[in-house]
Amino acid sequence: MLAANGAGTATLDAKLLVGHALGFDALQLATRESEFVSTLLASSVSELMQRRLTGESVARIIGHKEFYGLEFALNEATLEPRPDTELLVDLALKALPTGGRFVDLGTGSGCIPISILANRPDASGVASDINPRALEMAGRNAERNGVSGRLNLRQGDWFGALLPPPSFPPHKGEGDDRAEESRFDLILSNPPYISSEVVETLAPEVKDFDPRLALDGGPDGLGPYRIIAAEAGAWLKPGGKVLVEIGYDQGAAVSNLFAAAGFSRISVEKDLAGLDRVVSAHHI
Ligand SMILES: C[S@@+](CC[C@H](N)C(=O)[O-])C[C@H]1O[C@@H](n2cnc3c(N)ncnc32)[C@H](O)[C@@H]1O
Repeated sequence: MLAANGAGTATLDAKLLVGHALGFDALQLATRESEFVSTLLASSVSELMQRRLTGESVARIIGHKEFYGLEFALNEATLEPRPDTELLVDLALKALPTGGRFVDLGTGSGCIPISILANRPDASGVASDINPRALEMAGRNAERNGVSGRLNLRQGDWFGALLPPPSFPPHKGEGDDRAEESRFDLILSNPPYISSEVVETLAPEVKDFDPRLALDGGPDGLGPYRIIAAEAGAWLKPGGKVLVEIGYDQGAAVSNLFAAAGFSRISVEKDLAGLDRVVSAHHI
């Protein structure tokens, strides 16, 4: 059924869905394939197949997805982590100094900060999202991957999430300089970056199942980058760095936003497919 419907990964999809319905792992599926299943289980397999046939991804149906070698649970508020985003994690791991502290804005399932922390026991971080249901999932994923003690979760609108008045350290020195301990070595984000118009044209698998809040970057897709570029400097330690994931055609526009905000040594990094994927910018 799945192959006839055009799914390129029909056999794999079918194995994952049948395994999920029966509670079998890959080995059990292979060794017990000649066993009969009850009508009840057969009908739950059909139910999952029907969902797949309407375009829902296997990860969304089974409720979890692998990213950077770790398992991330998903709910309706979280974007399904994409393999492209692993580049952002690779670059963050290289850029983070020993004992470094970072923030991930728009964390969704928490796939970015949790992957970093799982590979860097010396590091700690903050993860924020405007959607409390996404943060709930990020919290669970942090627990399940053993890094919750080093990840502080904050709800709010971009940098606004970092401003809880009671625990916010007093300003030191002049102007709006923030105390050293509230600043970061690294600011990361994979923000929504698709223009509102283009969101409507995406494949049903994305448009109908990934949360709109995770996709829509406003009229030109650059709205979140404008905010991040304008405000990141105030939250970075001297010499700190910003790494943001971008759409394949946004390298120049996003680089210009960071240049206009006073960042230096701006570069555009390519993913494994050779497409522009991450903009890196240094705070002077
Ligand atoms: C493209 S998704 C990325 C999710 C995750 N970091 C990943 O890479 O899979 C963007 C995330 O930004 C969050 N978001 C959207 N608008 C926001 C805002 N104004 N402030 C903070 N987070 C926001 C969404 O809820 C979503 O989780």
